[in-house]
Order: sequence, then C-alpha cells, then structure tokens
Amino acid sequence: MRAINIDDLRSAARRRLPNVIFEFIDGGAQDETTLRANRLDFQRWRFRTRVLTDVSKRDQSVTLFGQHCASPLILAPTGLAGLLSRRGELAAARAAEKYGVPYCLSTMSTCTIEEITRETTPPKWFQLYVLRDRGLTKAFIDRAKAAHCTALVLTVDTKVQGPRERDMRNGFTVPPRFTAATLLDFARHYAWLFDVALGPKITFKNFIGTAAASTDAVTITQFIAGQYDLSVNWRDVEWFKANWGGPVMLKGILSVEDAKLAIEHGADGVIVSNHGGRQLEGAVSAIHALPAIAEAVGDRLEVVLDGGIRRGADVVRARALGAKACMIGRSWLYGLAADGQVGVERALEILRDEIDTTLTLLGRPTLAELDRNSLEYVA
Ligand code: FNR
Repeated sequence: MRAINIDDLRSAARRRLPNVIFEFIDGGAQDETTLRANRLDFQRWRFRTRVLTDVSKRDQSVTLFGQHCASPLILAPTGLAGLLSRRGELAAARAAEKYGVPYCLSTMSTCTIEEITRETTPPKWFQLYVLRDRGLTKAFIDRAKAAHCTALVLTVDTKVQGPRERDMRNGFTVPPRFTAATLLDFARHYAWLFDVALGPKITFKNFIGTAAASTDAVTITQFIAGQYDLSVNWRDVEWFKANWGGPVMLKGILSVEDAKLAIEHGADGVIVSNHGGRQLEGAVSAIHALPAIAEAVGDRLEVVLDGGIRRGADVVRARALGAKACMIGRSWLYGLAADGQVGVERALEILRDEIDTTLTLLGRPTLAELDRNSLEYVA
C-alpha cells in the first residue's frame, strides 16, 4: 500500500526491520519526554488563515549558502543508515538530489565521503563530530573539501553518547550480532536479512585507514567512544572555521546565549536541535527553543530547525517562527527502511506536497510571507 504520510512510512519501516534496528532509529534518550515534546510542541502553534488571497502561484524554494533548494528541507546527518538498507546513505543522497534538497552526510556513515560525492552530483554537506585527535578531524575536513562539500555541520551536543535505553535493553550492536535473542527477529525479516545482514559488512567506513586502524566495526566503535572531546569549547569553532574556509553550522543549539556566542565566534548558522531527543533527556523541544533564537540572531545567522518534523505543516510552522529551513531525520530514515531510495523519495514527496497544501490553505503562497502573524500559540 502506498504511504500517504510519514507515519505510514514508519509503519512500513517497523514491518521491514528487525525490532532491534527499528528501535535504534525510533528511540530516544531515557524516558523519551524530549523525543515526544519535539512532536507535541508543534501542535501548540495553530494557524491563522488568511482568505481571498491569490494562491495560484506558490513557491517553497529557499536559498541556503548560495544553493537553491526546491523545498526548505535538508536530509539530517544520521549515522549507520546502511543498517536500514544496503548503501543507505547513497540511496538518500540520490533521493535528495532528485528532489533538489541538500543531503548532509554523517561522520558515522556506512558509505565514505568519497563514495557519496563520486556517485552523486555536488553539493553535499558534511557533518563532523569534534574528535580528540585533531589530526584525524583535520583529515576529515580536508576530505570533505576535496569532495566539494559546501557546508560543514559541527555537531556540538554529543560530548558523550546519549543514554538510549531501548538500545541497551535490546543489546544493539554494530554490526548486528546474531544471538539467541536476535536470531528469530532477524530470520522473520528476510528481505532485510538478505539486503543488509548478509550483505557487505557494515562498518563506519569513513574511519577505515585512519587512526582507528581497523575495519572492524566493534573496534572502530570503541575507538570513536574514546574520541569524543569533552574539552572542546567556543575557541575551537574558530579553528574549524579557519580550517574549513566555507560555511560552518553548529548543530545542537537550544539557547539564545549560545546562538549569540555562535555569531561572536564566526559561525555562519545554527541548527536548533536536541539531536532528535537522543541526547539530553528533558531538554526543551526544538520548536520551543526556535522563536527566541531566531529573534535574537535576526539575519546574522542562517537558522535551521531540526527535530520532530513529520508533516509539511511542521515545516511551515518552523518557517513562520524564524527558521529558514528544516532538517529531517527519522522522516527520511523511515522511508529508507521501508523502500530504499524510493522510500526516501516518497518521504520528500509527501513533505513537499504537504507544505504546498498548507501554504495554499493558509492563504500565504510563498515562504517569505510567513511570520508570527501566521500562527497563534495555544497553551
Ligand atoms: C541521528 N542524528 C545524528 N546527528 C548527527 O549530528 N550525527 C549523526 O551521526 C547522527 N546519527 C543519527 C542516527 C539516527 C538513527 C537518528 C534517528 C538520528 C540526529 C539527526 O541528525 C537529527 O538531529 C534528528 O534525527 C532530528 O530529529 P527527527 O527529525 O528524527 O525527529
């Protein structure tokens, strides 16, 4: 059955994936209140429609760092997309290219930066975790530059891995391990089993040949866990900016103070995000944090909202509250798990069409016409 909305893609993903893998993408930190708030807080913002406006010509395109985007959407960086579908990152990058939106590759991907850029057309964005080994960090920056990535996304909310209890309970490992508990789960999902588990070995491919010095995912995972740099601070942003030379976005900003520091330290944009509710349990929702940040930074930074987008109407709300565009994480992952590249394309098509319908019914045919007056806050 053709998916009508993102929730249908989520149901299809749940059917196709073993439970341990589905919960890895679906879950959040501890009690998951932040994960839920990312969705629920959108509903507090209701639309104030305008009628009898000419909506015959609509436009949802935006320009981000000089790049024309057909929709105000960016595929968020997500590690291990290859666990959902073989060469998952490549499938997603191709879908993004088809729909004219940026794709942001994660450091923790199962395809390399070079594979993605060789097999798709630039531009792409690259997401980087700040690693203790600055030589390795610099090498990633150089590789992303050589691959013509246009923006560097620095994830700043992950000094340690968030406590994801579903993964702990399920014994989630990379690569997936055949154990007494998982064997039946894997065997019942034979399309996934043949596509992923019995396919080429899943690992963090960007790290192969680096200081991690191993192709084995377990060894690389241990290496990465020891690589998160707890001492990283605002001065380092300037180091990244100088070494990268292009636009730098900070991903994981939730306060006005930090957004102002981002300006002071030379960042070009902020991604208002709590990592999809996967890091600090109890953090404010992304949509809750957005209005004050957008107001404080004005047009001195590009502001992107990330977290909880499952409907085109959510994107329109975020735009009205000051975001230039939105990152989507699970929405494309559900599509990927459901049907590979075709599923990611369907996710993008659904959101694009929903944005269009919302703009039409709202009586504001372009994104530029959206502002706080387009919404009413209902406590
Ligand atoms: C993520 N996210 C993430 N973020 C990042 O900066 N680097 C990464 O490698 C990952 N990996 C990752 C894996 C999975 C399975 C998920 C679900 C998420 C966070 C991601 O970029 C984004 O912030 C959230 O997914 C946004 O929330 P929604 O759209 O999923 O609600």
